[in-house]
Amino acid sequence: MHITTEENDIAEVLFSEEAIQKRVKELAAQLTKDYEGLDPLMVCVLKGASFFYADLCRQIKCRIFMDFMAVSSYENESKTTGVVRIIKDLDKNITDRHVVIVDDIIDSGLTLKYLKDLLSARKPASIKTISLIEKQLGLKDRIVPDYNGFTMGDHFVVGYGLDYSDYYRNLPYIGILKPETYR
Ligand code: IMP
Ligand code: MG
Repeated sequence: MHITTEENDIAEVLFSEEAIQKRVKELAAQLTKDYEGLDPLMVCVLKGASFFYADLCRQIKCRIFMDFMAVSSYENESKTTGVVRIIKDLDKNITDRHVVIVDDIIDSGLTLKYLKDLLSARKPASIKTISLIEKQLGLKDRIVPDYNGFTMGDHFVVGYGLDYSDYYRNLPYIGILKPETYR
């Protein structure tokens, strides 16, 4: 793949920087209401959720704690394998804590389902999930996030933390790649 200027590889912007920031604020306001007094542990799923997580946490007005996990379900390609590898586990014990898993995007939903099951086994006081984007694929029995930013159709998107082979993460908006970019 030859990367020129990353912006040149974007065919269409689906969610602008402004739209993302507006929605993140709304989600943060909801979380502030729901978690006031509960001191939730916000779990970032690296690397895709990194910008979403940082912006979301910064807008939450009650006390929160932060921790990070790194997982991999994609091996340098734009299709799912169903295999979730834990690259970095949480630093903290989550038993009796209120946990919120912050993820970037739900495609097959396998990653988030796997993580939720894994962390549930550690007996948190509660566990909820939030995703920035949910792909509408009509999949039966897919995990439904407790909070979600945007829904979209079956596209492969990059930007705002989302990558294609680790490229494009730092674009401030979310967009669809030009077909000729996949080589
Ligand atoms: P799932 O397990 O199939 O739901 O895939 C979840 C993970 O795959 C996400 O956390 C992303 O890291 C990655 N992923 C899925 N769809 C996209 C996409 O459209 N662009 C970039 N990454 C994606
Ligand atoms: Mg990824």
